[in-house]
Amino acid sequence: MTLLKLENIKKSFNLGPLQVNVLRGVSFEVKTGEMLAIMGTSGSGKSTLMNIIGFLDQPDSGRYLLENRETARLSDSELSAIRNKKIGFVFQQFNLLGRLTALENVCIPLVYRGIPEKEQKSMSMEILEKVGMADRAGHKPMELSGGQQQRVAIARALVGSPSILLADEPTGALDTRVGQEIMNLFLELNSTRQITTLIITHDPRIAAQCPGTILMQDGYIADREESQ
Ligand SMILES: Nc1ncnc2c1ncn2[C@@H]1O[C@H](COP(=O)(O)OP(=O)(O)O)[C@@H](O)[C@H]1O
Ligand SMILES: [Mg+2]
Repeated sequence: MTLLKLENIKKSFNLGPLQVNVLRGVSFEVKTGEMLAIMGTSGSGKSTLMNIIGFLDQPDSGRYLLENRETARLSDSELSAIRNKKIGFVFQQFNLLGRLTALENVCIPLVYRGIPEKEQKSMSMEILEKVGMADRAGHKPMELSGGQQQRVAIARALVGSPSILLADEPTGALDTRVGQEIMNLFLELNSTRQITTLIITHDPRIAAQCPGTILMQDGYIADREESQ
């Protein structure tokens, strides 16, 4: 089943008098359960593309269908609601809230949904267990290693059972060994829970473990490979 479909997506930014055409017509489809690496040189538009897929930004033109639903005509509040329900984001710098515990960080998407506190906590503990962080639930991010913080961030991305997990250089701030542990977690979640996953990475060893790769170049998809 097609989960998302992009057709001729264009996006430019104005830098003073200069117009930078970051996405010049990007088209591709992602099927439910797929796991894709997105590669390309710095500045090739990978994060811009991912932000559009995750509703953090909107394209200038082109079509974006998520679960067969046209996203262009949705209001801001509809977009926020869909983002909260359908999209899980993981960032290079983890982006956890420093004043909150690991457990409270994982609860955030559920707070926005108005889920009762007791249920929030039990859902969050369950997913913290899944990522191997249950014994650190009461710790603040500062008290955790980078790899542990990323596990918590992955739990936060997954707690609401999103349709798609978007990760923008999730191993970029971690050393090779810890980065591989995080990659193992993505692989396991994809194979056991069929979580559709897009991972931006600069690391060819990480990309090689994804069943498919998209290569971005000059605002286009230059290549797509599926290993089978
Ligand atoms: N909000 C913005 N305003 C102006 N320029 C931007 C903005 N976001 C990205 N860009 C520019 O778009 C280009 C692509 O950025 P990005 O998508 O972050 O690339 P990548 O993630 O592949 O490194 C860069 O030249 C960047 O400077
Ligand atoms: Mg980027």
